[in-house]
Amino acid sequence: MEKERDSPPVGRSISIFFSQAKVRNSCDMLKNKKIFITGGAGFIANALIKRIIEENHIIVYDNFHRDTLSASGYADDPHLRIVKGDVLDFDLLVNSMHGSDILVHAAAIAGIDTVIKDPVRTMRVNMIGTANALEAARINKVQDRIIDFSTSEVFGPMAFKSSESDNTVAGSAGEARWGYAVSKLAGEHLAKAYCSRYNLPVVTIRPFNVYGPGQTGEGAIQVFIKRALKNEDIHIDGDGNQIRAWCYVDDFVDCLLKCMEDEEAIGESFNIGNARAVITILGLAEAVCRVLNSKSKIVFDPPLSADVELRIPSVEKAKKILGFRAKTDLEEGIRKTAAWFEQNRPTVDCEK
Ligand SMILES: NC(=O)c1ccc[n+]([C@@H]2O[C@H](COP(=O)([O-])OP(=O)(O)OC[C@H]3O[C@@H](n4cnc5c(N)ncnc54)[C@H](O)[C@@H]3O)[C@@H](O)[C@H]2O)c1
Repeated sequence: MEKERDSPPVGRSISIFFSQAKVRNSCDMLKNKKIFITGGAGFIANALIKRIIEENHIIVYDNFHRDTLSASGYADDPHLRIVKGDVLDFDLLVNSMHGSDILVHAAAIAGIDTVIKDPVRTMRVNMIGTANALEAARINKVQDRIIDFSTSEVFGPMAFKSSESDNTVAGSAGEARWGYAVSKLAGEHLAKAYCSRYNLPVVTIRPFNVYGPGQTGEGAIQVFIKRALKNEDIHIDGDGNQIRAWCYVDDFVDCLLKCMEDEEAIGESFNIGNARAVITILGLAEAVCRVLNSKSKIVFDPPLSADVELRIPSVEKAKKILGFRAKTDLEEGIRKTAAWFEQNRPTVDCEK
């Protein structure tokens, strides 16, 4: 049986507990670490890997439901090992995580089309997969950090300047979109429970519409960009009045790294986004066409599911505790993303 440490109370006092227990220079923290990344073949994980691979050992654990890794140029790096595995395979997950200092649990079924196609897999992977990842971390005594990926969807259909302490919204049962949100929220509650019960150094992050080079799946910006580059019709679900705040992936990873390094982050949840890059979906499609000088037409399709009308985060907590502020404005982000897709067009799956 695992030896349990004394349980500190939840929340900020956990941060103080860990600050006292493990005083170390945060700049030295992400060096020579064994960093285990579930969902390591995915979009955000690869933007993270790019930043940490030189000085650490990375284990990518992924079933390759999606694959940004193969086109990244890091797949054959000697600092990276790939385990093709499913987070639902508990024994393989536990064995593969052995000796890891940090767990980044990014594996999930995400993206509205995929979620609607298979709501059972969505909920199983996101809930049971997260339970497996946390239990595997406990068994393997992952000491330095556990990053749990939640989602901004937990704030429901109307989220204006949502802060971390705001109530989450469950939505109506049976609606696939809210099934995804609830599955991530269940993971978040479980992560907090592991933090308070077993003193695991957990940080939960809630990404708000992250985009950038290498993204696959349904994220609107990359789909719009890929179509705009080919002058193909850009499809919008619904009337296009939905409002989102868009965060460029390198900004997101700046904050993710702080969550992996800063002792103050332990026991906390953070909204990570760019509250200044706000636009409607129609405005976004028009901006992509304008910035890329595209001749694409914009067409409107019936909505796929329940939608989020408005979603803008408050990122004050990340600013106050971690000193985070997103730097990339929307036009610059669109240009950088488009440049990457233009360069990598032959190797990238465009409409997965
Ligand atoms: N990108 C965003 O804007 C955004 C917003 C909110 C939440 N998130 C969360 O951030 C995390 C990373 O998102 P992303 O955008 O990089 O998505 P992604 O789909 O590119 O990455 C997820 C990875 O998980 C892997 N995966 C899926 N099921 C698996 C399973 N059963 N076993 C092992 N691996 C599995 C996929 O193959 C993929 O590589 C996810 O947890 C997602 O829910 C992302």
